[in-house]
Amino acid sequence: MTAKIIAVANQKGGTGKTTLAMTLSGTLGRRGHRVLVVDADPQGSATRWAASAPDSTPFPAAVSGLSAAGAKVHREVKKYVEDYDFIVIDCPPAADSPVPMSALMIADLALVPVIPSPPDLWAAVGIRQVIANVRESINENLDARLVANMCQTNTEVAREALEVMQDFGIPVAQTKLHHRTAYRQAAAFGGTVHALGSKAAGAIVEIDEFTDEVLALIATSRVTAVATTILTEETNHGPTVDA
Ligand SMILES: Nc1ncnc2c1ncn2[C@@H]1O[C@H](COP(=O)(O)OP(=O)(O)O)[C@@H](O)[C@H]1O
Ligand SMILES: [Mg+2]
Repeated sequence: MTAKIIAVANQKGGTGKTTLAMTLSGTLGRRGHRVLVVDADPQGSATRWAASAPDSTPFPAAVSGLSAAGAKVHREVKKYVEDYDFIVIDCPPAADSPVPMSALMIADLALVPVIPSPPDLWAAVGIRQVIANVRESINENLDARLVANMCQTNTEVAREALEVMQDFGIPVAQTKLHHRTAYRQAAAFGGTVHALGSKAAGAIVEIDEFTDEVLALIATSRVTAVATTILTEETNHGPTVDA
């Protein structure tokens, strides 16, 4: 099976890209899927997350550091598409980095984690533009979701921001991820929130629901075939995209 490709992107740092990429990948891996996380951020947070796992319980997905590939990340990823069921690309935060564009060219789904607050939503305008450009030029079937992360739904500002998110131009994922210590703990021990058991019941329920939602979204995606054709042509006739 050719891997479905999910790019986690937002030019703002600290919105939860790595947390989302690792938690989603780990959850898919725990369910028996073959998953590769592509760590496309030179900060290497995804790589460190997996490296924190003890030998006895390795992180349930492979992680490969490909940040050096820069604008050619799509070509590197292409080499792995027949070996995995899912490839999740953790993009760097820099607005001017060519990596998100390269990742989105071959992605079935873009996930944009956003903290529900006005400045965080304004900061996501850049990635919305990149998604629009990629759809226009090369990957018209690219699907995308804003993911409300670190939600504190009991605050008025968060409630208002969640409402404003609905009009942002990228649909909002139904499942919201709340601000929970369990996500930080999972990074520290190199696993997913599932390992924390009943202490992390809320996090486990929401990440399982989120994973189900992602699986339903990409079940019918046709993007990989389109992108693979583009990339094959690119290989045969030289680069057609410089981004
Ligand atoms: N839902 C959440 N609840 C609590 N802490 C979170 C949550 N999501 C992310 N964090 C924390 O916020 C910080 C930034 O998250 P990270 O995933 O590294 O963001 P990014 O990759 O976008 O820079 C980290 O310390 C992470 O543990
Ligand atoms: Mg990160």
